[in-house]
Amino acid sequence: MNHDEVATTFTTLFGRPPAGVWVAPGRINLIGEHTDYNGGFVLPFAIPQAACLAADVRADEVWRFHSEQTGETVEVDTLTPGAPGWQSYLAGVVWALRQEGHRVGGADFVLSSEVPLGAGLSSSAAIECAVMIALCDLYALDLDLLQRAQLCQVAENQYVGAPTGLMDQAASTLCTAGHALFLDCRSCAVEQVPLDLATAGLEILVVDTRTPHAHVDGEYVARRAACTRACEILGVPLLRDVTDLDAALALLPELEGRRVRHVVTENQRVLDTVAGLRRGDFDQVGRLMTASHASMRDDYEITVATVDLAVETMLASGALGARMTGGGFGGCVLALVRAGTADVVADAVRAAFADAGFGAPVSFGARPSAGARRTS
Ligand code: GLA
Repeated sequence: MNHDEVATTFTTLFGRPPAGVWVAPGRINLIGEHTDYNGGFVLPFAIPQAACLAADVRADEVWRFHSEQTGETVEVDTLTPGAPGWQSYLAGVVWALRQEGHRVGGADFVLSSEVPLGAGLSSSAAIECAVMIALCDLYALDLDLLQRAQLCQVAENQYVGAPTGLMDQAASTLCTAGHALFLDCRSCAVEQVPLDLATAGLEILVVDTRTPHAHVDGEYVARRAACTRACEILGVPLLRDVTDLDAALALLPELEGRRVRHVVTENQRVLDTVAGLRRGDFDQVGRLMTASHASMRDDYEITVATVDLAVETMLASGALGARMTGGGFGGCVLALVRAGTADVVADAVRAAFADAGFGAPVSFGARPSAGARRTS
C-alpha cells in the first residue's frame, strides 16, 4: 500500500500532515459485461490493488491535487465539467457532490494508485471512490454506500464525460473481502455472494494482455447506442426488460439482434453463476465464464486477438473457465484455475504470446478484497 508515501508527500508539499488516508480498490468483474447500463446484473469483486489518497480540508474554495504517478500538482478554483486532465477524476467528485447540494469546501489531496491504467480494472472508479470516501469523512456527509457510488458515476458521466454504467463505482465502494458483489443495476439491490476459492482448491489468475485500448471510448459509445436503438424498436425502457429473446430477435436488424442476444444471455449467465457459487459448483461457474467470453467475442464484438488467444491458451492449459473482464478491446483476462496451476497457465500464455509475436503479458493472482475504507 502507498499509505506512508502519500502521507509523507502531503506533509512535504502542503506544510501540514493530512487529516487521514483513504483507499479505494479496482475491480475484476467475474461475469456480467456490458449489462450494467442495460439495467442488468453484474458480479464484480474488489482486487487488492487500490487508489490511495491523503487529504485534508481547506478554509477556502480551492482544490489542490497532487499525483505521485505524474509528479504534477494541479490547483483548481473553478469546477468545469469536461475540463481535461487526470485531475478531472478527482474534481468531478467534488462537483457531483456540490451539484447535489452537499456542503463540500476546499481540500488538498495527494493520490497514488496501484491500479494499472487502461487494463480494464477500473482505475478511474478507484480514484473517484477514494475522493468520495475522503470527502464524506472530512465534511461529515450523510450518504450511504450506494449513493456514494451513484454520485461517483455522475462524476464519471457528466464531469469526465465517459458514459459508463454503475458497476465499477459500486464495486469499489460496496465490495467486501471474500465476496463477489451481486448487483441488480435496475433496482440497485445488492447481495454479497461468498467467493471462497481457497476452500474449493481454486485460484483466480489474471493476465493483463497489455493491449492498448485503441478506440475503446468510441466503441463503448457505439455499443450503448445499439442497445438504445434496440430498446426503441422493441418498445422497452431497458434491455433488462426483454423477456422473450426469440421474439425480440425476430423484430431486430442483424447487428442489434446480436448485441441484444449478448445482453440477455449474459444476464442469465450472471444469475446462473450466482446459483453455481451458492452450490459450490465451480465447474459450472467456469463454463459460464467461457460462454460469456464467446458471447463478447461473437455477439458483442468487444474482444481483440490478444485476449482471445489468452482465453484459448488458459482453457487449453486446464483452466475451468476464462474470459475477458471490463469494457473490452484489450485489458485483462481472468481464469478460474486449480490451486497450484496458476504458474503453468501463466507460462503457457506467455509462450503463446511470444509465438504469436504479441508483447509480453503480465500475470498476477486476484483474491476478493475489501471496498473503499479509511486506513488512518
Ligand atoms: C466499463 C464501464 C462499466 C461497464 C463495463 C462493461 O468498465 O465502466 O460501467 O459497462 O465497462 O461491463
